[in-house]
Amino acid sequence: MCGIVGYAGKDRAAPVLLDGLQKLEYRGYDSAGVAVFEGNSLRIVKKKGRVKELEGARSLCGRVGIGHTRWATHGAPSEKNAHPHAYKQFALVHNGIIENADALREECLARGETFLSETDSEVVVHLIAACYAGDFGAAVRAAAKRLKGSYALAVLCSDFPDTVLCARQSSPLVVGKGRGGLFVASDLPAIAGEGVEVFALADGEFATLRGEEISFFDGEGKPVPPHAVAYRFREDVPEKRGYAHFMKKEMSEIPAVMAKNAAAFLESPAFSSFRRALLGAERIQIVACGTAYHAGLCAAHAFEKLCRVPCEANIASEYRYRDPIVPPNTLCLAVSQSGETADTLAAAQIAKERGAYLAAVTNVAYSSLTRLADAVLQTEAGREVAVAATKSFNAQLMLLYGVAAYLAREKGRKAPPLGAMAKAARLALSAAEEVRGWTAHFLAAKSVFFVGRGADYFTALEGSLKLKEITYLPSEGYPAGELKHGALALIEENTPVVAVVTQKGLAEKTMNAVHEAYARGAKIFAVTDLPEVAACKEAFASVLLPPCPEEYSPAVAVIVLQALAYYVSVARGNDPDKPRNLAKSVTVE
Ligand code: AGP
Repeated sequence: MCGIVGYAGKDRAAPVLLDGLQKLEYRGYDSAGVAVFEGNSLRIVKKKGRVKELEGARSLCGRVGIGHTRWATHGAPSEKNAHPHAYKQFALVHNGIIENADALREECLARGETFLSETDSEVVVHLIAACYAGDFGAAVRAAAKRLKGSYALAVLCSDFPDTVLCARQSSPLVVGKGRGGLFVASDLPAIAGEGVEVFALADGEFATLRGEEISFFDGEGKPVPPHAVAYRFREDVPEKRGYAHFMKKEMSEIPAVMAKNAAAFLESPAFSSFRRALLGAERIQIVACGTAYHAGLCAAHAFEKLCRVPCEANIASEYRYRDPIVPPNTLCLAVSQSGETADTLAAAQIAKERGAYLAAVTNVAYSSLTRLADAVLQTEAGREVAVAATKSFNAQLMLLYGVAAYLAREKGRKAPPLGAMAKAARLALSAAEEVRGWTAHFLAAKSVFFVGRGADYFTALEGSLKLKEITYLPSEGYPAGELKHGALALIEENTPVVAVVTQKGLAEKTMNAVHEAYARGAKIFAVTDLPEVAACKEAFASVLLPPCPEEYSPAVAVIVLQALAYYVSVARGNDPDKPRNLAKSVTVE
């Protein structure tokens, strides 16, 4: 995680760096800092908290600098742990994790060097200084050879005050040229603009930003050709448009997003290649994290039910270390809003190396995942700013359900049409307003349960994740039938239990668990499209959902749970857009 930026050009660097950091704040907001050359000396300003705390640095005059917004891995969120880290004539910003930092720190300590922070990143600046004998590039390359782990680095050296040096290993980094300057950043939106050419660094590559040129090198210092990134520039300034929070605004977009995504995969430039892989697939493996993993679970359920193709959803961070079996004719679907999640990228890479056809389901066209994949199935959710994923989840579901329905029909099987889903979402969105009245019962809950069976269980998992993320209330998503095997012990008088009941064949079974919880004092909140469940005597309150095919019901039912998390978060005085400890894009292991 963390966002890094750098600039060398004709304009004052500080405003460019601060504007770039604002655009990268979704990567972390524990602390922020910039380093700018004023003549040959470096001015460093760092603050705990958000990028806006750095406004005082905007007036710095230098034209070369680097900046950082942090999501803490090593060392608490604090000013001393904020980047840039400086040692001797060097300063750097880092995104990633240096796995051998402890051993390297010991070496530095043995030389009598002292450290100002608890970070792994500070070790890197010491290492560069130790490798330096007058050649800036050679020092960074030599230091990089000793690093284990992941890094995107932007480095300054006061012997070369016109230069920013960059390095990349397993953490995203792009560089750009145009509008009178040279740029580097963790992610394209931070540097994209009219007339700015953008290039991606590959793993193990280095770039030097100096004067009017960017030069690219391999680890031996030999020039390598640039990898241009094609993108269409769209001024994409996220606005709340009258909503109190981005999360609420993004939820309001769900019906339109769902309408767009049901057939989105047919637009993929790689559709004919993807279609071949899909029709020939003997099994499907989905890899993803967090909310995207929950979309994967829902999709796997639909693939098996509608197409009778074996399909498993995998938590990417587990898949990558379990020596996965990837038999011939495996289709791997890597699902990721950002396309930058480190675990998802690593899992996708493994599946591909082991022979799977890799399709990326992602919202970001120019992400690392799109570069890795054989085919890109782009979700059309638009930019999602709130850390808690909402509309991107519904977009992933609709795209994946669209693929499942297509495959089912190609196999001569029936699949319900997706055409009425957007309308159902619109109705669910207005029904979801009823949960505002539920918040008082959740505010001080010791624990909250979300239960369901079949596809409803996956909705429950996502509802629970949303609640945890933005309200900080302990909560669990549970298969309704499992409650009695242990978790029932946690039910006390007034424990909120949210029952998701849309799978007709399983409704009675889910209700068994509801009865058991109710009998032990739980307060039951029903989210259902079955009038008899909504009206049942156990339900303290309920939201009646519009009807929709039960194979696809998570895309509709989840809207109520997203709204519940949102209203409880606001009632608890939290900022639902920027939950503590979390970042939008998780680019470290
Ligand atoms: C969702 O609300 C979370 N912020 C998180 O679980 C997220 O879905 C996960 O980190 C995966 O991100 P990705 O979709 O960008 O890969």
